[in-house]
Amino acid sequence: MSADVAELMASAKAAAERAYAPYSGFPVGAAVLAEDGQVYAGCNVENASYPQGWCAEASALSAMVMGGARRLQAVAVFSPQAPLCTPCGGCRQKLREFADETLPIHLTRADGGIASYTLGDLLPHAFGPEHLPE
Ligand code: THU
Repeated sequence: MSADVAELMASAKAAAERAYAPYSGFPVGAAVLAEDGQVYAGCNVENASYPQGWCAEASALSAMVMGGARRLQAVAVFSPQAPLCTPCGGCRQKLREFADETLPIHLTRADGGIASYTLGDLLPHAFGPEHLPE
């Protein structure tokens, strides 16, 4: 595992500790490495009106946009509850807004190692901003 990936995953783990997940009991942290070299992290935030909760990846992307960055270099996702906590379908599409299919997505395996995928692996033939007319 490269130092960069380990650092990104450490940020995702720290973010998971901030998760607000009283309903699912399933905390998640996500960390994104942006074009500017900064790491932005976020956690899932649930709601008593269940569908109103949102995912860790959405929080991390929001932090990135607020930080002034618009392109992703890499993503790490972590949940202490499940190995290979993979982004949900909606979050794959959210990530696609700010990256192409080569985006690396790093997940923690049950043995503590890292499994790495690309966004193209997880969301093939994705619809993206370039498909919209100018
Ligand atoms: N969750 C995330 O935050 N990210 C994912 O990629 C998968 C699911 C959250 C949503 C909900 O708060 C909890 O995990 C259980 O689904």
